[in-house]
Amino acid sequence: MTTALAPPTAPDRWEQRLQTAAHPVAYRLLRAVAARGPVVRVPRVGVVVSDAALAREVLGDTVHFTKTGPGSPADLWTPVLGPSVLLNMEGSDHTALRRRLSGLFTPGYVAALCARVLAQPLADLTRRLRAGEEVDLVRVAQICAGAAICEIVGMPVEPGRFATAHAEASEVTRMVRLWRPSMTGRQVSRAREVLGKLTASAVTAYREGSEETLPGRLHGLGLSEVEARGAVGAFLLTGTETLVSFIPRLVALCHDTGRLAGPGMLSCSGSRGGADGGGGAGGYDGADGSAVAGLDAVVEEALRVTVPSPVMLRSVAVATTVGGVPVAPGDRVVIATLLCAQAYGPFAPERPHPPELRRLWFGAGPHFCLGMPLAMAQIHAVLDAVLAAGPTAVTGRRAARRVLIPGYARLDLKLRSTT
Ligand code: HEM
Repeated sequence: MTTALAPPTAPDRWEQRLQTAAHPVAYRLLRAVAARGPVVRVPRVGVVVSDAALAREVLGDTVHFTKTGPGSPADLWTPVLGPSVLLNMEGSDHTALRRRLSGLFTPGYVAALCARVLAQPLADLTRRLRAGEEVDLVRVAQICAGAAICEIVGMPVEPGRFATAHAEASEVTRMVRLWRPSMTGRQVSRAREVLGKLTASAVTAYREGSEETLPGRLHGLGLSEVEARGAVGAFLLTGTETLVSFIPRLVALCHDTGRLAGPGMLSCSGSRGGADGGGGAGGYDGADGSAVAGLDAVVEEALRVTVPSPVMLRSVAVATTVGGVPVAPGDRVVIATLLCAQAYGPFAPERPHPPELRRLWFGAGPHFCLGMPLAMAQIHAVLDAVLAAGPTAVTGRRAARRVLIPGYARLDLKLRSTT
């Protein structure tokens, strides 16, 4: 697959604007690097991989590449979360913890979770749209993220807490910068303070051990208290801003390609199945109960063009080559997932994804996103609530500037006038 990037079509132009607003220098630099080849060594950055098949090779090769060496995610997260939080583990310890967590985000559990925590904010969304109000979907996504956070940390799911819960979790992710491999001492102290406060209720819920709370379920799955607190912290860091970024962008892409015409209207030919690490949303019923062909394909394609987790990092453990480029222990490998995915052209849900690309935006190999079923359930729940309101349109938007994960700062949505 060539890494030469196709010129953007109109909906993709907005996506490019989001990328350049978030990372004015890094995005252009990465694109220039990708134009030089699929694997390029960039001084002070690392070995940049922008080809999907090669990215998959690196992610699946735990002999030569690790998440625990210099320049890897461990440098970033171990000082904040401790040494055993999946994202900074490798080998048998990681496998054992993943195995114990495999029963956590089951389809039944994530469906019940979404129904429980998102019911009120999403009913509100549909009601306000139906009433003709202009609704900022970024704010809605933040409120939904806050509701999910309350559930994850075992706090009572009360609407008054949602905005603060989201603001606290996002304060930590805002400290991360694309090219800085670790946080400063002050940032580490602040991140620990914020996460300590957020996860304090997780400890109480863990000790109570009720199957009604997520920390209680972690207890039931055999995690120690330290592991459970770490897992909760990891869920907050990985599962909050990714969704707050993605959901408005998905709706904007649907609008820009004429797919926001209400229940039963979000369609394209074909539907994508299969997953790298578990089933997706599968067949989907529209808000009116009718089958909506291709909704999964629209969501998957929106994930492909947005890639809410745009970069994955690895450290080289044992000398090898990547796409013919030699790498040595200590080298940092920057997997530019966004560029791997963008190389396949503009937003086109009817085009099937080739095997090497399949769900790369959720990773590949042993670290494949644990929370994908929860992410997909939340995404579909919000989209469902938007469609249930009737035909809507984006009436205003603004790109977020200098953020880690590109996205909208505001995306206004309103019911379309039918006259
Ligand atoms: C659209 C939303 C999301 C995207 C695009 C996404 C993407 C990713 C990616 C790319 C990885 C692999 C990183 C790597 O290999 O370096 C990952 C790992 C992970 N994700 Fe997600 N994620 C999303 C939502 C969530 C949610 C909602 C949760 C949980 C609440 C979650 C929990 C995790 C965890 C725990 C890991 C680490 C797994 C491990 O290292 O074994 N993610 N995610």
